[in-house]
Amino acid sequence: MRDFDPLASFGADVAATYDAHLRGDEAETVACLAQLADGGPVLELAIGTGRIGLPLAAQGLAVDGVEQSTAMIARLRAKPGGEDLAVVCGDMANVPVDGTYRLVYLVFNTIYNLLTQDEQVRCFQNVAQHLTDDGVFLVEAAVPGPLYRLDDSYVDAESVRTDGVTLDVGRYDRATQLLDECHVSLSPGGIRVTPIVTRFVWPSELDLMARLAGLRLQHRWGGWQREPFDSRSARHVSVYGR
Ligand SMILES: C[S@@+](CC[C@H](N)C(=O)[O-])C[C@H]1O[C@@H](n2cnc3c(N)ncnc32)[C@H](O)[C@@H]1O
Repeated sequence: MRDFDPLASFGADVAATYDAHLRGDEAETVACLAQLADGGPVLELAIGTGRIGLPLAAQGLAVDGVEQSTAMIARLRAKPGGEDLAVVCGDMANVPVDGTYRLVYLVFNTIYNLLTQDEQVRCFQNVAQHLTDDGVFLVEAAVPGPLYRLDDSYVDAESVRTDGVTLDVGRYDRATQLLDECHVSLSPGGIRVTPIVTRFVWPSELDLMARLAGLRLQHRWGGWQREPFDSRSARHVSVYGR
């Protein structure tokens, strides 16, 4: 997408409404992460508004974060407990923190926000530098296909209401693996366009990135309740360690 600015995808507008429609998987995500953290410490890459990081910290774990959007960090800070987390404003591919962690995690398809293979590989390599010897890196992401259509181009009616419609407009490039997407809201108040670009990868490509970083796949589940991962799984929860 020409002139796309990744920082604009999670600017003040998006941050203001981000928590209005939660994903609904927060409790099971936190339960799974808390078990893997085994006492911590824990680092969330792209911590956002703290949807997961804050309830995880509320379980008594030390949770740090990396996040590049100052607007998302401001929302996190405004929540109860939000001032207590150490959050570095920066690019998660660099993992700009000191110290090592028992668990580093990156959820909600956000590995796809790194737009080149090099950046995704760099992220794995830098995470590996910040894991304790028995530490693990957990990645949760959609499997290309069932949840995200990777057609050459499409328009979906995301919501149709009496006061307007929201359209999901996408174009996928098989050569770059980039999905250019725009959520377009049409209402009497006007037109709002929210663009985002993501780079989709198959789980197997992530596994190879992990190997380049000296990590191996330890578990792959089809969901947060450790469901088996199979050909119908719409997403994967993958755990990498040494
Ligand atoms: C879908 S949200 C997920 C936020 C949070 N992890 C959650 O589960 O609610 C994606 C987040 O990734 C952040 N992000 C995207 N690319 C990033 C990067 N390169 N470095 C740090 N944060 C990034 C965005 O600013 C946004 O807050």
